[in-house]
Amino acid sequence: MSKLDITIAGEINLDLILYGLPEHMPTERELLASGFAITLGSSSAILAHNLAALGSRVGFVTKVGDDSFGALAVERLRERGVDLTGIAHGAKSGVTLILPHGLERHILTYPGTISELRFEDLDLDYLASAPHFHMSSLFLQRELLPRVPELFRRMKSAGLTTSLDTNDDPEDGWDSVLEILPHVDILLPNEREAMKMSRADDLETALSRLAQMVETIVVKMGASGAVAIRDGRRFSAPAVPVTVIDPIGAGDSFDAGFLHQFLRGADLTTCLAYGNLCGAFSATDCGGTEAFRDTARMQEFLR
Ligand SMILES: Nc1ncnc2c1ncn2[C@@H]1O[C@H](COP(=O)(O)OP(=O)(O)OP(=O)(O)O)[C@@H](O)[C@H]1O
Ligand SMILES: [Mg+2]
Repeated sequence: MSKLDITIAGEINLDLILYGLPEHMPTERELLASGFAITLGSSSAILAHNLAALGSRVGFVTKVGDDSFGALAVERLRERGVDLTGIAHGAKSGVTLILPHGLERHILTYPGTISELRFEDLDLDYLASAPHFHMSSLFLQRELLPRVPELFRRMKSAGLTTSLDTNDDPEDGWDSVLEILPHVDILLPNEREAMKMSRADDLETALSRLAQMVETIVVKMGASGAVAIRDGRRFSAPAVPVTVIDPIGAGDSFDAGFLHQFLRGADLTTCLAYGNLCGAFSATDCGGTEAFRDTARMQEFLR
């Protein structure tokens, strides 16, 4: 029996979040924030962390910076019991600075090791040692991207099921995803991403196009919950109302809840409901991982 339920390849970095800055930010002035959080960020690492917090056995392969930011980020995963035997090391950590303004936010990223993971860094036997393989933040993997189709193909031929959350394409090109989709079982975009990658002007067209391309298409819709299509059948599930601190990482937390149930063989309705529950729970605390570090509160919320 495999000792892992899922392997994930992707990026890791800390998020520095400054709350309560003025909407207008002139230069050459000292602008004061009303709150600050330093937290494990990045789509892939948030997913790995929160899946492990839920109780899945997670193997995470990434390139981590040899500096104190890298060490802290890795420590956060180690605390949750994520298996890190496959990680590679690079020089300088990436970092993301997030400045929320109401429901909008500035997101400023220095990529560093985020985009330096190479195909040669991956131990394919390790990645194939779980029954399921996942990638997030496809377009930030600039070194790996040209060989991601091959990576997914290799995982499928090794008998794994696969999932992908592309997140946004900073260059808004979207072409490279089409080569990967034939090897993806579960695709987890948000509404905008679904429309962009399928070249559709509305969600319905996007859903029907993507449903032809993958076994299960799941679209996240923020405070409107989520919708999915599998085998021509449509499923939808409402969001869980919560008092939102910030929605950072809600999409990755949705993925964690969805995949945690999928890995246990749950039906699609249960996967969607648990995804919404975990997305909402993430929004009740800073960043994408802070809520999931409080195990007692997490268990109570999920109950
Ligand atoms: N305001 C909210 N209230 C309740 N649930 C929410 C809220 N915002 C997000 N969620 C939950 O989180 C899920 C994912 O959110 P969203 O649609 O914003 O994903 P995303 O755009 O991929 O997010 P991310 O920025 O993390 O990549 C939603 O489907 C929903 O279940
Ligand atoms: Mg997302």
